[in-house]
Amino acid sequence: MWNRVEQTAREVFGTFGFGEIRPPIFEPTELFARAVGGETDIVSKEMYSFTDRHEKLELPKVMGDYGGFIEKVEKLYDSGEIPRTNNNDLLLTRAKTHWKQYVEHATTGPFVAEGFENLFRMVIAVNALQLGPELSLRPEATASVCRAYIEHNMHAWPQPVKLYYTGPMFRRERPQKGRYRQFYQIGAEVLETLQQGQGGAKDIPKDAAVDAEVIEMVMAFFGRLELQGVQLEINSIGHNAPDCRRGYVEKLKAALVEVKDKLGEDSRRRIETNPLRVLDSKLEHEQAIIATLPRIGDHLCDDCAKHYRELKRQLNLREVKYEENWRLVRGLDYYMRTTFEITAQGLGSQNAVCGGGRYDGLVELLGGPPTKGIGFAIGEDRLMLSLQEAGKGGVAQGRDVYIAWMGEKAQATAIAAARKLRDAGLRAELPPVEQKLGKALGQADKLGARYALILGEDEVVSGQWTLKTLADGSQKKMGEAELVEFLKGARALSG
Ligand code: HAM
Repeated sequence: MWNRVEQTAREVFGTFGFGEIRPPIFEPTELFARAVGGETDIVSKEMYSFTDRHEKLELPKVMGDYGGFIEKVEKLYDSGEIPRTNNNDLLLTRAKTHWKQYVEHATTGPFVAEGFENLFRMVIAVNALQLGPELSLRPEATASVCRAYIEHNMHAWPQPVKLYYTGPMFRRERPQKGRYRQFYQIGAEVLETLQQGQGGAKDIPKDAAVDAEVIEMVMAFFGRLELQGVQLEINSIGHNAPDCRRGYVEKLKAALVEVKDKLGEDSRRRIETNPLRVLDSKLEHEQAIIATLPRIGDHLCDDCAKHYRELKRQLNLREVKYEENWRLVRGLDYYMRTTFEITAQGLGSQNAVCGGGRYDGLVELLGGPPTKGIGFAIGEDRLMLSLQEAGKGGVAQGRDVYIAWMGEKAQATAIAAARKLRDAGLRAELPPVEQKLGKALGQADKLGARYALILGEDEVVSGQWTLKTLADGSQKKMGEAELVEFLKGARALSG
């Protein structure tokens, strides 16, 4: 089932000109913090992060080695091999000072408590140093795709660059149906670096058409899978400017402060950290309050409003049905203008099976050239759940043919027949030991085979093999070459 879904994604995305990218499972934590946003739930609470070890450094085991160790650390720190963080800076200075004071005491001193204290503090500081880079298991892959785009100079490829990926993502969330700590996404991204003379308001029709085609592609994929109850919601969250989203957020904040006492704890905190996310709240008692808040649609700048109108027109041209949802803000910071989510049947509270949006400027934020982006990711586990629920998931493993062979002489023929059939792309099951005909046919039935090839001594001698159609019990005799052709034809007809 997973294979079928991924294979279908490859086929459908391929028809839209997408090629596969395989980003790594972990990246520097900093990449996600910058791209997804430090205040988001994903980065602040949900990432699996760890400090890697430094290749060449191990903490000294003997007191006397600390002096040399500090010198080594200092060199590596200056060359940037040890992460240059504020905390490391502080710790290193502290370690050096204490080491110096300890040495002074040790050489000039009577060796007293102060000397020990310096030694002790130095060891604590050195032990707290972050020697290796901070890494995280990827919580999503858009950041990685943008990182790879920059690292491999994809701006020099024919534009736009269209990429898709499949694979596991990791978020420390409370597990429940449809929400896992290791889950799978199928995602796609369209990236386009601005060429000379590009950008600005004149690009709006083109950008909106790209957005609509990306959405059309997901919908085509879901259609091909016969996913049930598919609903697309769209919104525009404008762009980060005072006359657009930033202005709106100020108004929203002011309105939220007014109703602060009626809000739950999470929403109250978000007034300061991320007011837009209050709109995401699913708390029953907050719904009526949220309905009265100012709406972003009324505060978009002219260009963003135009982009949003044009997106809707483009979706209509493609006969893609959508609902507008002004509360759809998404939980990642990189979005601007278009955001969308798709829900499907049978998923309970975790019903978003796909989320995406436009992220112009993200590549630049990560150190690349000014580049536009739009993409989405599908939650593959949820997709599976929904397909299963609707009875669209199960594909019986099945066999084209079960080879029922009887008698020692028939085994060699059966082995050769299995090889021929498999070479022709047919799924052939060859029992390792001889079976009675009744048992063989029963086994063939259990495995969902369409045909049984019966090979007894008569068949071996005559070269005329017996093929039994299991659905109706009818039998035919034919030679080897004819049999292979016949089964190939039957396979092609059944798809
Ligand atoms: P996202 O909305 O965070 O977006 O995730 C996309 C989809 O992944 C969700 O709609 C959901 O189906 C699935 N998902 C997320 N978390 C879990 C979980 N814990 N368990 C199971 N499924 C989950 C992104 O990840 C963006 N990178 C999408 C994107 C690509 N935007 C632009 N390009």
